[in-house]
Amino acid sequence: MKTEIIKILRNSDTYVSGQQLCNNLGVSRTAIWKVMNQLKEEGYEIEAVSNKGYRLIHSSDVISESEILSRMQTNYIGKKVRFYDEVDSTNLVAKKIAEEEESDGLLVVSESQTKGKGRRGREWSSDKGCDIFMSLILKPKINPMNASMLTILAALAVSKSIAKIVEKDTYIKWPNDIILNNKKVCGVLTEMSTEIDYINHVVIGIGINVNRTSFPNELASMATSLYVETEQKVQRAELIASVVKEFEEMYLVFLEIQTLQPFMKEYNDTLINAKRQVKIIEYGKEYEAIAIGINEKGELMIHDIDHPDHVRTVLAGEV
Ligand code: BTN
Repeated sequence: MKTEIIKILRNSDTYVSGQQLCNNLGVSRTAIWKVMNQLKEEGYEIEAVSNKGYRLIHSSDVISESEILSRMQTNYIGKKVRFYDEVDSTNLVAKKIAEEEESDGLLVVSESQTKGKGRRGREWSSDKGCDIFMSLILKPKINPMNASMLTILAALAVSKSIAKIVEKDTYIKWPNDIILNNKKVCGVLTEMSTEIDYINHVVIGIGINVNRTSFPNELASMATSLYVETEQKVQRAELIASVVKEFEEMYLVFLEIQTLQPFMKEYNDTLINAKRQVKIIEYGKEYEAIAIGINEKGELMIHDIDHPDHVRTVLAGEV
């Protein structure tokens, strides 16, 4: 009911009467009044005028289960949301839920993380109330060898959403860093539990630096936020819902074909490494090569610096 009330208030330019809400939702005036009070406590600014009704003045940047659900436009991913004020890591919470519950498509979101995990054992820093920390649980019936491609789709979903919401083009650094003005604005950490021939679950963790205004010294030269680059505050719930929608659209196609063929061009067009010399870090070894783009499996195609015909692929690693 809370989700419905938020939707009705957000979509109305004028006052919505208590009676109208009661009729639409089939509940009592007291029930409506209780929800209005909860919403105010969650940070919504709601004006109540006798004989007119309720009007949403400003929802600032509230993220809550109801706010996210009220914006979700998907068919199954993100239709169930678990929202927390603080967790160690949304990936850890998601993995636990995935082991214990029927949770395909469930989305975990938190206002902050105390032990945010980055790739390769690094930390992911958290600015409470400013950024996005989300993890999607998926249980795809696909070959486990193909699961790493989901990470590519997640990066593409974020870059498309940022382009729509803040109208800024981002680049992708293979496989899944989102770069804005040469600094990282988003990272994706995909973790999975598999048997040899089937996937128990995949958890796709996405961290987006959204409204934070500054970074600690050690990160300032590498990391940025949407706000720092655009001076625009973004409603995080809108961005979360958009990422999930963009992801779902591609994911449903991907499940059928299990290749990235339809998405390769769009990904390669935004690849920051394309045609550049990159340092490949693969299985503990480091070497230089020229990046070409991804193939339909999401592997990075590279060629030797001195031998353009000597093309190879990198499946896992970092550039
Ligand atoms: C990277 O190193 O680039 C990946 C960073 C991934 C961070 C996100 S934030 C939400 C989710 N929970 C985590 O602990 N990590 C991921």
